[in-house]
Amino acid sequence: GYSSHHKKIEAHELSARFYHHLLMNTEQGKEAYDYLLHRGFSPEMMERFQLGYSPDHSNVLKGLLEKRKFNLQEMEEAGLLLRQESNWDLKDRFRNRIMFPIQDIQGHTVGFGGRVLGEGEPKYLNSPETSIFKKNETLYGIHLARQEIRKSNTAVLFEGYADVIAASNAGITNAIAVLGTSMTERQAKIIRRNTERIIICFDGDNAGQDAARRSAEILEQEGLIVQVALLPDKEDPDDYIKANGAKRFKSEVIEAAVPLMAFKMQLLKRKKNLQDEGEKLQYIEEVLKEVTYLSKAVERDFYLRQLADEFSLSLDALKQEQFHIYKESK
Ligand code: UTP
Ligand code: MN
Ligand code: MN
Ligand code: MN
Ligand code: MN
Repeated sequence: GYSSHHKKIEAHELSARFYHHLLMNTEQGKEAYDYLLHRGFSPEMMERFQLGYSPDHSNVLKGLLEKRKFNLQEMEEAGLLLRQESNWDLKDRFRNRIMFPIQDIQGHTVGFGGRVLGEGEPKYLNSPETSIFKKNETLYGIHLARQEIRKSNTAVLFEGYADVIAASNAGITNAIAVLGTSMTERQAKIIRRNTERIIICFDGDNAGQDAARRSAEILEQEGLIVQVALLPDKEDPDDYIKANGAKRFKSEVIEAAVPLMAFKMQLLKRKKNLQDEGEKLQYIEEVLKEVTYLSKAVERDFYLRQLADEFSLSLDALKQEQFHIYKESK
């Protein structure tokens, strides 16, 4: 009911304040604080995103929640406490982790992502799906970014919490992220209510690029104008900003974002050596396939002409080949 919902949010906000205090002001949080500074996260960003530290004990948060008269069974349902298998006791879910509070669009804290200090598995431990934390409709950073998204009529979508923070630090404050999952229709609809344009900037590895393609298709289906930014292989936006600075990130990655079809062409190009005759033909064939399946006739025509120009081919030959591809797909 309403009151349970309210209690769970209240407990998350108390927890976020507690973890944040430990990070910013205590000896216990010093290693985590130094880790974040070393990664290039400024104290201003730690404040803006209310980053925190969960101590290396099993019942510190539990003690606080108990003292504040929260029902501990309800706190387990909220994902803050975890039942131990050995003795059935409740303990803190998050331990010795950097805490990223996750807020809903109104700014209520509804969950956490917790990152290990340095290396370790899992790298991020996230709150489970609960009655207040619906992952398929949550976007990290949306509350903070909303005003700027509306003002600029553009959102920039990342894969990771760290990327949103690094982007924000670089002056890109219309930054949001999916929660380690792929984009859902619900999330796309929420974005569409706030902007007409979106730039997807996922990690440069294969997983990131595949996710970018899938997300782009879902966002386009909701009527968004989608552009995709390509990063060097094995780099993510946070790494890129650290290595090359905010200015280059804006001009060479964000402003260089292209429509989905052009992004697919960039990806195919990355995998082929176009100096090699055989690979060049494969490239043309693969692009042609993608072009054939485009839903808009104007787009098909546009990319067909581009392909013809780039490789000095006749439109007729390309169209004939397209006809074959089309027939084979039937
Ligand atoms: P990444 O592995 O790209 O992490 O996962 P990252 O954001 O670059 O993290 P850093 O820079 O190493 O700190 C992207 C996102 O996928 C989710 C998280 O939301 C993360 O931000 N993820 C990743 C998980 O939920 N669990 C994991 O174990 C790993
Ligand atoms: Mn503070
Ligand atoms: Mn990744
Ligand atoms: Mn990453
Ligand atoms: Mn990263």
